[in-house]
Amino acid sequence: MNTNFLSVFCLLVCIAEAKNEYKLFNVLNYGARADDRTDNTMAFLKAWSDACRWRGKSTVLIPQGSYMLNEVIFSGPCNSWMNFQIEGRLKAPSDIYSFKTDSWISFRYVNNLYVGGGGTLDGQGAVAWAKNDCQKNRNCRVLPGTMTFQFITNGYIHHMRSINSKQNHFTLYGCKNMVLTKLKLIAPFNSPNTDGIKIALSMGITITSVSIGTGDDCIAMLYGTKGVRISDVFCGPGHGISIGSLGKNNGEEDVDDIVVKNCTFSGTNNGVRIKTWSSILQTTTHVSNIHYEDIVMDKVQNPIIIDQNYCPSLPCNAKGEVSSVQISNVSYKYIRGSGNADVAASLQCSPNKPCQNITMENINLWPSGRSRKLNNECLHVIGASYGTQIPHACI
Ligand SMILES: *[C@@H]1O[C@H](CO)[C@@H](O)[C@H](O)[C@H]1NC(C)=O
Ligand SMILES: *[C@@H]1O[C@H](CO)[C@@H](O)[C@H](O)[C@H]1NC(C)=O
Ligand SMILES: *[C@@H]1O[C@H](CO)[C@@H](O)[C@H](O)[C@H]1NC(C)=O
Repeated sequence: MNTNFLSVFCLLVCIAEAKNEYKLFNVLNYGARADDRTDNTMAFLKAWSDACRWRGKSTVLIPQGSYMLNEVIFSGPCNSWMNFQIEGRLKAPSDIYSFKTDSWISFRYVNNLYVGGGGTLDGQGAVAWAKNDCQKNRNCRVLPGTMTFQFITNGYIHHMRSINSKQNHFTLYGCKNMVLTKLKLIAPFNSPNTDGIKIALSMGITITSVSIGTGDDCIAMLYGTKGVRISDVFCGPGHGISIGSLGKNNGEEDVDDIVVKNCTFSGTNNGVRIKTWSSILQTTTHVSNIHYEDIVMDKVQNPIIIDQNYCPSLPCNAKGEVSSVQISNVSYKYIRGSGNADVAASLQCSPNKPCQNITMENINLWPSGRSRKLNNECLHVIGASYGTQIPHACI
């Protein structure tokens, strides 16, 4: 081989390699300052923008330290996969009037996104919670959630702590093929609307090894949520793992194919819950193929609940208002532990659309705490029960 050939060879191979070269974009090189005061929004955005344009794989690095960060949107599409590595602590402004949208940190339109790094997202929610009047005021100001993923395909969200979110900790909308793992989400039990993970119009979502203690649902799956696998989730305090609420608005897409397995609920209001609004609205929305298995309840108020008369605020529950959401193929298997109110399973389905094919298999729930005795209550339920049934099955 002559040297000419080698250099031509290298020229070709080296260009090909350079094209896919991995590159690190450290926010400190873009003027970010970990001093807890400086607004780092522009620095982070510049780092993101360069990384997103880079032709190879890239990492935006936020090293250890505490960074003040305003509302920010990291948008794609990007040229290659993106790794957003948060090793430090990000702090939101506590003033809710500094937000224009309902999210603090958003990622949009990215294909192959990694977000993780062991860092902390501090939503600084304490001041905002007192300003949440959404139970009373229909035109209330929607508070910003901590981290929102919109139209992300292939996402890996991992190793992060989110504390004191103003509203939801994590929100997924229009996402496909996402894994959320090794997350710790924390807010006080009485912080309003601080859902742990809220999902809508998304499919192929895996949530595993996640610990959630918050003031609303640990996980909420809304319209158009399909193909979700939840396992090894600890929930408490909080309002449980919920499907819904559904049936309040027209045209909501179905919720289908959800598996919740090997999860623990401790001191929560609800365990596994499906809720649909009591409403005169005629919908064709279905909730089907929902499977709960290997669930441990520890002093849970409503361990198993289907509530088709959901009405946390007016107007609803007027005479004749019944949910028209159809629930079918729901199975509960190996659910054990304690309840601390009167009911183990409360299945309140709609007279308009009775629940179809609800199965209970090996349920063992006993009273604890304030509870002396547990009963099951069924209304408009069609299904069957198998194996151990403590207390007595009502289907
Ligand atoms: C079930 O969850 C526990 C912790 O909650 C975990 O240690 C265990 O590995 C999980 N088992 C399976 C089969 O996923
Ligand atoms: C009832 O639902 C279970 C899954 O929960 C399914 O395996 C079964 O085939 C369904 N039966 C009917 C009659 O649809
Ligand atoms: C219920 O499960 C059965 C058996 O798996 C399936 O054939 C049927 O389509 C399911 N019903 C709904 C509404 O998905």
